[in-house]
Amino acid sequence: MSGPERAATGTGEGDVVAQTPINQILAGRFACREFCNAPVPRRTIEQILRIARFAPSGANIQPWHVYVLAGAAKDRVSTALLDAHENSRDEHVSEYKYYASDLPDPYLKRRQEFGRLFYGSLGIAQIDLEARSRQTAKNYTFFGAPVGLIVTIDRRLEVGSWLDLGMFVQNVMLAAAGRGLQSCPQETFAKYHRILRPLLSIPAEQMVVCGISVGKAKVERPVRLMPRADIDEFATFVGFET
Ligand SMILES: Cc1cc2nc3c(=O)[nH]c(=O)nc-3n(C[C@H](O)[C@H](O)[C@H](O)COP(=O)(O)O)c2cc1C
Repeated sequence: MSGPERAATGTGEGDVVAQTPINQILAGRFACREFCNAPVPRRTIEQILRIARFAPSGANIQPWHVYVLAGAAKDRVSTALLDAHENSRDEHVSEYKYYASDLPDPYLKRRQEFGRLFYGSLGIAQIDLEARSRQTAKNYTFFGAPVGLIVTIDRRLEVGSWLDLGMFVQNVMLAAAGRGLQSCPQETFAKYHRILRPLLSIPAEQMVVCGISVGKAKVERPVRLMPRADIDEFATFVGFET
């Protein structure tokens, strides 16, 4: 294919992107919540991390740390977190706040739309708390992925370093997509840091930020579920000719 064409995963009018390799990887990544159990070799994850480490970071401080879990180690984490989710979820809280308590618009509207689309796609009524809880539980099995990452950051660092960490996390997911693998970033793991810490020997100064499931997607190129605001909603161009 040549020239600008609608991305295979596109959603609408403004969604025309050139089919360059980098664009295909960016547009082809999605939050995958159903994986095949085909194993991903350690070597592949090493390659992903080796390229992801070229993420930029202020003063090149590279504030990321990753625990890479597979096999019995991953299963131990899953078992412990599923148990906590079932029996003691209210006793656990993340060490950082992901969402503002009062989301202003347009973010509130987008979150509501996310809920409609996400639970709608799963056939779960938004008021069905039991079914929602069962869906949340799937996070802790890494959605069936063969590899789970737990991402941490040194708590002594400032918010700027979290910006760097986000870039690293995105690089990991794009590097995976470039190898035909999909991923899901998962903040929900942060809630269970008290369980993860002893299981993975996470030092006290490290804060659990998120997990990332990595593996081969069950459905390789699904129709993109989550839309994006078009650029006129988030970009202000100054100094260009119209
Ligand atoms: C930092 C971060 C944390 C997230 N945490 C979760 C999570 O805990 N569970 C989950 O199912 N999805 C999680 N997501 C996935 C988002 O819901 C998803 O990226 C968003 O709805 C857009 O969909 P897309 O990535 O498929 O385009 C997270 C995404 C990010 C960036």
